[in-house]
Amino acid sequence: MKKILIKKQSIIDLYNPKLDGVLKFKSFLNKTDLDIIMKEVNSNRHLFQTKEEKYIDNNQDVALIYRGEFCLDGLNNSVFEKLFNQYIEMRETISKHSDIPFDTGNILEVKIIRYPISDLGVAAHRDLSSNVNMITFFNLLGNVNFYTYKNKKGDYINKYLMEAGDISFMRAPRLNEEIDIRPLHGVAEVYTERIVLAIREIRTDLEEETNKGNWRGF
Ligand SMILES: [Fe+2]
Repeated sequence: MKKILIKKQSIIDLYNPKLDGVLKFKSFLNKTDLDIIMKEVNSNRHLFQTKEEKYIDNNQDVALIYRGEFCLDGLNNSVFEKLFNQYIEMRETISKHSDIPFDTGNILEVKIIRYPISDLGVAAHRDLSSNVNMITFFNLLGNVNFYTYKNKKGDYINKYLMEAGDISFMRAPRLNEEIDIRPLHGVAEVYTERIVLAIREIRTDLEEETNKGNWRGF
């Protein structure tokens, strides 16, 4: 697992509403880390729950492998303990450089999701307003082009190639007034199966019913 140097300016840029709100680092996880994580994920594939995720104008069957609350208990020296400790450090750095404190989220939610090969990808959308401060994606398997958009017609601002091992942060509202800074984003050119581990900070008082879904942990 690579130590990532997160510069203050990159955090100022992440929350600059004139910029697209994504910060990506290449190869955060190396081949050995990925092999260990994927072995763990694959041994729990029997727990995959396929659910239809509806986006604005497409549907796809997405398998939710795991959804649970962020917790270090019981991870004793596992790869997830290392990963989550690194996440805590990175979150501290980002919140330290943020001009508005990260104090609106009540829980941290961890999800591991498998996306099938699909021509559809995920259409331009914004994440829920109950997802606050920042959204973190660890790309565990596959690669995809992740786009940020100017509008829902599909005119894009930036295209990021997300590959296994990469980590990305997407800005989320720190205050109610920041609801409009949520990046319009989506994925396309999905030629491989993809597995993503996402960590989200949730404001449970705002959490919509639709975000609850079915889940079970392992
Ligand atoms: Fe999204």
